Amino acid sequence: MTGAPGKPIRKTLAVINCSQLLTLAGARRPRTGGDLRQLSIIEDGALLLCGDRIETVGRRREIESLIPEDCEVIDAGRRVVMPGFVDAHTHPVFAGIRANEFEQRTTGATYREIAARGGGIRATVRATRNASLSDLVRIGKHYAEWFLRSGTTTIEAKSGYGLTIEDELKILHAIKQLNDETQLRYVPTFLGAHDIPSEYKSRRATYVNLIINEMLPRVAEERLAEYCDVFCEQDVFTTDEAWQILSAARCLGLGLRMHADQLTLSGGAKLAAELNTATADHLEHTDPTGIAALKVAGVQPVLLPGSVYALGSKHYPAAREMIDAGLAVVLATDFNPGSSPTPSIPMILSLACTQMKLTPAEAITASTINAAYSLGRGDEIGSLEKGKRADFVIHDCEDYRELAYFFGIEHPWRVFSSGKSAFSRSVSEARP
Ligand code: NIG
Ligand code: FE
Repeated sequence: MTGAPGKPIRKTLAVINCSQLLTLAGARRPRTGGDLRQLSIIEDGALLLCGDRIETVGRRREIESLIPEDCEVIDAGRRVVMPGFVDAHTHPVFAGIRANEFEQRTTGATYREIAARGGGIRATVRATRNASLSDLVRIGKHYAEWFLRSGTTTIEAKSGYGLTIEDELKILHAIKQLNDETQLRYVPTFLGAHDIPSEYKSRRATYVNLIINEMLPRVAEERLAEYCDVFCEQDVFTTDEAWQILSAARCLGLGLRMHADQLTLSGGAKLAAELNTATADHLEHTDPTGIAALKVAGVQPVLLPGSVYALGSKHYPAAREMIDAGLAVVLATDFNPGSSPTPSIPMILSLACTQMKLTPAEAITASTINAAYSLGRGDEIGSLEKGKRADFVIHDCEDYRELAYFFGIEHPWRVFSSGKSAFSRSVSEARP
């Protein structure tokens, strides 16, 4: 455990007395079918870290004999220990909130009606354009804390509330700064195609060209995003426009994701399959043909039940059918100020189990290792295996199924990002 001469000694840390250590170890690929239920649990487990990496995992007795003298030891007190959640779809950088629209929806207005009268995404765009980079970083840090205390250690982070070159770059710079200055890890996605800005309403082709000819080249040149996403939907971007934008992004070396079939069946899933995108997200209205196309193309579905719930809809995506078709399902929050104001993966686990009939184990796989693969990071995060990054959470429960069963409470007791404490709170020792 000590470093070679001349090299800094990396600090070791051990976590012992885990009632269940959910390692998620397994084949080095996204999990499908029955593998979604295999959490590779070590009962009475322990974990040894070296610096920011996992050194080894095993039964408490095996690990205890390996613990060096100067090692810090954390007693998990017979609690569940598992990888930090990986949230593969979020919109975490914006100014202002939309509690007014939330209230309007309680009295019957729909998301699309509110958007049609200038609210929705455009309301957040106005507020975000008026915010400075430092405003966005300050607000973003507040939400970063929310993610960490919910047990999430990596998020995919979309731009999309700027819709001018300067404002989209400002958001992507904010994401970069948040990645550098917080313990949450961000995977940046360019979403200049989140909406047609009001000033281009009657000139939509001009806006699409602006994205393709000016925004994307700048984003790629400054290496500000790993992925490009498009909101493909009636009243937003057509499948033709989405095809043009995503094809241009691919030529510049960006990975592809897509908001598909969220509010209507608009051909999004089929286009995602045609383009072989990494993910197709939402899919509330995707039909069996779309599901079959995703399977053939190996596209991962990212399901976002938080937005269905918060919009007061009952139209959840056909998650069971997707699993039965052999898709490597991912679950994410879609954290944003309009359709899904939650950073909480535990809340998403509850919705996935109660509304989409995933088992708790399937839901956990979908929000850890499968999410990591959907971001091209399956070898780095999403499971607790030797050499992977030491991103893990001690939850204040003894059985992992409690994470989806008890809802509306805070589960994480301690959260570690790259081996360092990122959140902790006091919990009662008096447990049932
Ligand atoms: O994923 N669908 C488009 N984008 C977000 C909503 C963003 C907003 O309402 O501000 C979503 O649901
Ligand atoms: Fe979204």
